[in-house]
Amino acid sequence: MSSRPAKTAGTESRTAPGGDRISPLTGGRVPGHIAIIMDGNGRWATERGLPRAAGHRAGAENIRRVIERFAEHDVRYVTLFAFSTENWKRPPSEVSVIFQLIDRFLQRELHNMQRDNVRVRHLGHLEQLPKPLAERINNAVELTKSNDGLMLNICLSYGSRDEIVTAVKRIAEAGIPTEAITEETVSANLLTGGLPDPDLVIRTAGEQRISNFLLWQNAYAELYFTSGYWPDFGREDVDLALAEYGHRKRKFGKLLPEDLGSLEEN
Ligand code: FPP
Repeated sequence: MSSRPAKTAGTESRTAPGGDRISPLTGGRVPGHIAIIMDGNGRWATERGLPRAAGHRAGAENIRRVIERFAEHDVRYVTLFAFSTENWKRPPSEVSVIFQLIDRFLQRELHNMQRDNVRVRHLGHLEQLPKPLAERINNAVELTKSNDGLMLNICLSYGSRDEIVTAVKRIAEAGIPTEAITEETVSANLLTGGLPDPDLVIRTAGEQRISNFLLWQNAYAELYFTSGYWPDFGREDVDLALAEYGHRKRKFGKLLPEDLGSLEEN
């Protein structure tokens, strides 16, 4: 799937402050973690006079080339919003097509992921999925769990508010005293517990919203919106998004060293 070498040595030398990486391709700063809202499959198909299913198929086929490009830039985590809790409201035939495509993707790519040291994780309600798909996911997660290259998180039957409510319930059930509850407590009890927050969110198809995707985790993420549809989002688009990220100043509410000089009043 990607060209990531097994058990990368010396990766420390390619990190930049704040979890960013240094791209071996450009020498520029790239995000450690990228989250993607793959939007526009339906419109891509409709504009070609094709059924919506063809758009989802093209969207699923696009995932490999995008992940390969991220891996070439040394991005460590990619999180895909494949199916939201709200997507259950779509016609059953469309839901079924999306599930079939995800099933086929995992079946087809498992060998490549093993070869390329990619680790798969699932975020969301596994128990709501058809049993064979849930088993396929469990199998991919289990077989790739000791891979330490790029981590691919697939959000499937996932909703961020639901995730936060579940975390709150877990914290309450654990009997943690309120004064001991910190941001770290909440983060640790989310499905992403232990993972770094996304540095960059990419959404295709011209929509400019977050749509219940990693609401807590994206508090300081840079947002990148692009008008092209997901099936057309290619290697050059990855490069453009990463170049744009490299120009963003991430302040996390603080001042940057270059801003400190202008503190004094004239
Ligand atoms: C949004 O486009 C896309 C989805 C809801 C489904 C995304 C799923 C895939 C790309 C299938 C494969 C996924 C994996 C992980 C293999 P839309 O249908 O909302 O498009 P529209 O807004 O143009 O109608």
